[in-house]
Amino acid sequence: MTIIKNKETMKNSFLAIALLAVLALSCKQADPYGYVVKDNQIVYNTPPRPADQQSMLGFAAEPIENVRVGLIGLGDRGTGAVYRFPYQDYATVVALCDLYPERVENAQKILEELGAPRAKYEYSGEEGYKQLCERDDIDLVYLAVPWQLHTPIAVYAMEHGKHVAIEVPAATSIKECWDLVNTSERTRKHCMMLENCCYDFFELTCLNMVQKGVFGEIVHAEGAYCHNLDPYWDVYQGDWRMIYNREHHGDVYPTHGIGPVCQDLNIHRGDKMDVLVSMDTDAFSGQEAADKRYGKGAYKYANGDNTTTIIRTRKGKTILVEHCVVNPRPYNRMYQLTGTKGFANKYPNEGLALGGKHLENVAYDDLDAETYMSDAERDAVMEAYKHPILKDLEEKARKVGGHGGMDFIMDYRLFYCLHFGLPLDQDVYDAAEWSSLVELTEMSINHGSMPVVMPDFTRGEWDKMDGLTLAMAE
Ligand SMILES: NC(=O)c1ccc[n+]([C@@H]2O[C@H](COP(=O)([O-])OP(=O)(O)OC[C@H]3O[C@@H](n4cnc5c(N)ncnc54)[C@H](O)[C@@H]3O)[C@@H](O)[C@H]2O)c1
Repeated sequence: MTIIKNKETMKNSFLAIALLAVLALSCKQADPYGYVVKDNQIVYNTPPRPADQQSMLGFAAEPIENVRVGLIGLGDRGTGAVYRFPYQDYATVVALCDLYPERVENAQKILEELGAPRAKYEYSGEEGYKQLCERDDIDLVYLAVPWQLHTPIAVYAMEHGKHVAIEVPAATSIKECWDLVNTSERTRKHCMMLENCCYDFFELTCLNMVQKGVFGEIVHAEGAYCHNLDPYWDVYQGDWRMIYNREHHGDVYPTHGIGPVCQDLNIHRGDKMDVLVSMDTDAFSGQEAADKRYGKGAYKYANGDNTTTIIRTRKGKTILVEHCVVNPRPYNRMYQLTGTKGFANKYPNEGLALGGKHLENVAYDDLDAETYMSDAERDAVMEAYKHPILKDLEEKARKVGGHGGMDFIMDYRLFYCLHFGLPLDQDVYDAAEWSSLVELTEMSINHGSMPVVMPDFTRGEWDKMDGLTLAMAE
């Protein structure tokens, strides 16, 4: 009798578990932004485009004579922007907003010191950004707030008719990536992520060389964010960055590494990032940093000291990305390109290795792609292939600064394209694809480094554009 009862209990429990499993699976399938586990892969959905939306590929808005900027977030990064903006030709800061009114006043003083007019409008508090976005005399909302606020504020701004520029990463989840894409497509407003590393001097000139075929076909690229943040943890308002790292596995800050190499590989302009696999170390220095900050054992620190991700593209290329922000090691964004005719490497030393026969306007024809060229040879090649954007801007950019000048160039390009009514250099699909690594790498790691099939934010249009163009007015 007891045996029969136990058998029945077992049967009932089995049925209940089976039912729960089916329910869980159908919930995942019902989530348009979710995934299913299929053939040992995590496969993300690409939901169909709603009828009231159109693609933003190649989108250009009406020209804006002088871009009226509302700047939200005046901490370390936002204050840097305040120092740079007065040197721009096509934009004026008209509104400032931060949680703390004293940060707004500090920004006003910087504008005054630089001889620029004080911003007309000031906002503060948790929801001050809403009033800023609701104004009808602002063209662009420029966001330098904690990661968790990027997408909610950007969506609110686009819903209220503003173009948006968002610090990196633009989103922290796949749902947020789709929110940006859907809102931009529906409102016909630009949504650009401020990936400044695409505008560094070496990267821009290499992009020009890639586009001129100097490296042949790029088959493999590497990028990274290796930066010991130990001296900076106290700077972030409300501890937002340590909290995010403490609670998440994965490459939580992927865009400096992935952005420039995606441009070189024409991602969603002829190729697509298809499948990724991610793996992390344990949190050795990370746990130590958390113990030092919060007391020993107060928190278990999730983010691995080193997170490595490999991505395969639809056209058979690979990308390697690394994240490392807690170990004592020299700063490194890697930026490495391997092509069928040559090789470029930015860190620790800028180097080129090229066969010389196919170089334009360069006097060296006995180069050997298996060894780095000398510094003098490299400088001559870099000069000969200097990106056209740098020819006009380099001197001013170095003077104004912002990570050596790349931040100035990034802002300049944003305002220039808005002024002349051109497509922006980075579109909403770049923002979504590069930021999507935040969730996708964590998902891979949480499933024992299972491969993840990435969603297609362009919804099948990744090969409609023929390469990346940085648009010029004349
Ligand atoms: N591209 C780069 O090289 C680079 C470098 C540093 C930081 N960043 C990015 O810039 C962003 C900001 O980083 P940070 O270092 O300046 O951080 P921070 O903590 O110094 O600044 C964030 C600011 O946002 C404000 N804020 C918080 N909630 C707000 C709200 N509801 N409304 C208005 N303001 C609010 C805070 O008061 C603070 O002044 C992050 O996304 C970060 O990743 C990018």
